[in-house]
Amino acid sequence: MQQNSLLLALFLLCFSIRSGSGQSDDLRTLLELKNSFVTNPKDETILRTWNADDPNFCNWTGVTCGGSVIIGLNLSSLGLTGSISPSIGRFNNLTHIDLSSNRLVGPIPTTLSNLSASLETLHLFSNRLSGEIPSQLGSLVNLKSLKLGDNELNGSIPETFGNLVSLRMLALASCRLTGTIPSQLGRLVQLQALILQDNELEGLIPPDIGNCTSLVLITAAVNRLNGSLPAELSRLISCFPN
Ligand SMILES: *[C@@H]1O[C@H](CO)[C@@H](O)[C@H](O)[C@H]1NC(C)=O
Ligand SMILES: *[C@@H]1O[C@H](CO)[C@@H](O)[C@H](O)[C@H]1NC(C)=O
Ligand SMILES: *[C@@H]1O[C@H](CO)[C@@H](O)[C@H](O)[C@H]1NC(C)=O
Ligand SMILES: *[C@@H]1O[C@H](CO)[C@@H](O)[C@H](O)[C@H]1NC(C)=O
Ligand SMILES: *[C@@H]1O[C@H](CO)[C@@H](O)[C@H](O)[C@H]1NC(C)=O
Ligand SMILES: *[C@@H]1O[C@H](CO)[C@@H](O)[C@H](O)[C@H]1NC(C)=O
Ligand SMILES: *[C@@H]1O[C@H](CO)[C@@H](O)[C@H](O)[C@H]1NC(C)=O
Repeated sequence: MQQNSLLLALFLLCFSIRSGSGQSDDLRTLLELKNSFVTNPKDETILRTWNADDPNFCNWTGVTCGGSVIIGLNLSSLGLTGSISPSIGRFNNLTHIDLSSNRLVGPIPTTLSNLSASLETLHLFSNRLSGEIPSQLGSLVNLKSLKLGDNELNGSIPETFGNLVSLRMLALASCRLTGTIPSQLGRLVQLQALILQDNELEGLIPPDIGNCTSLVLITAAVNRLNGSLPAELSRLISCFPN
C-alpha cells in the first residue's frame, strides 16, 4: 500500500518534470508570440496553424525545427501588425529569425541578446519598429546577417556592433539614425556589405572602415556625412578595383 503510493508519487514527479520541459515551454512561448504578433484576434487567417489544438509546432507556418528544438522562425510578409514579444529571447537554439516585411510596431526587444549562442540571422527590415537599436544586440557574436532597415528606428548605431565579428551583412538603411558611424565597425573583418543610406548620420566616414578588408559594398548616400573619403578606403580593392 505504502509502496504503491510511493510509486504513484514517483510517477507523478517524473510526469511533471517531463511536461515542464522544453517542448511545452516552447509551445507556450510560441502562443505568447502569436498574441503579440496578431493584434486583432478576429484576424483568424494570420498564423492559423499556430494553434494549441495542434501541439506539433514543428510544422506550424514559418517554424523550422532541428530535431525537436526550434531553430528558425520565418514570418516574413504575413501581414503581422502587432509587436515583437520579449519572450522571443527564450528560444535558446534559434538560429534564424526573419520577421521582415510586416507592419510590426514597437521596440526591438533587448531579450534577443539572450540568443547569443545560436543566432546567425536577424532580419527585421521593412516594418514600423521604433525606438533605439538596443546596444545589447552587440552580444550576438554569431550573427552573420543583421538587417534592420526600413523602420522608424532612431538614435545612433551602437558601438557594440564592433563586437559582431562574424557579420557579413549589416543593413540599416532608411531609418532615422543619427550620430556618427562608429569607428568600432572597423573590427568587422568579415563584413561584405555595409548599407547605411537614407538616414541622418553625420560627420566623417571613419578611416577604420578601411580595416574591413572583406567589404565589397558600402552605401551611405542621403545622410549628413561630410569631409572627404578617408584614404584608408583605398585598401578596399574590391570596392575600387583600380
Ligand atoms: C504535421 O505533422 C503531422 C505529424 O508529423 C502530420 O500528420 C500532419 O499532416 C502535419 N501537418 C501539416 C500541415 O503538414
Ligand atoms: C523567409 O521566407 C521568405 C519567403 O519564403 C524568403 O524569401 C526568405 O529568404 C526567408 N528568410 C530567411 C532568413 O531564410
Ligand atoms: C534567457 O535564456 C534563459 C535560458 O538560457 C532563460 O531561462 C531565460 O528565461 C531567458 N530570458 C529571457 C528574457 O528570455
Ligand atoms: C540548445 O541550447 C542549449 C543552451 O544553449 C544547449 O545546451 C543545447 O545543447 C542546445 N540544443 C540543441 C539541440 O542544439
Ligand atoms: C526616439 O524616438 C522615441 C519615440 O519613438 C523618443 O521617445 C526618443 O527620445 C527618440 N530618441 C532619440 C535619440 O531621438
Ligand atoms: C584599424 O587599423 C588601424 C591600423 O592598423 C588600427 O590602428 C586601428 O585600431 C584599427 N581600427 C579598428 C576599429 O580596429
Ligand atoms: C562635419 O560636420 C560636423 C558636424 O556634424 C562639424 O562639426 C565638422 O566641422 C564638419 N567637418 C567638415 C570637414 O566639414
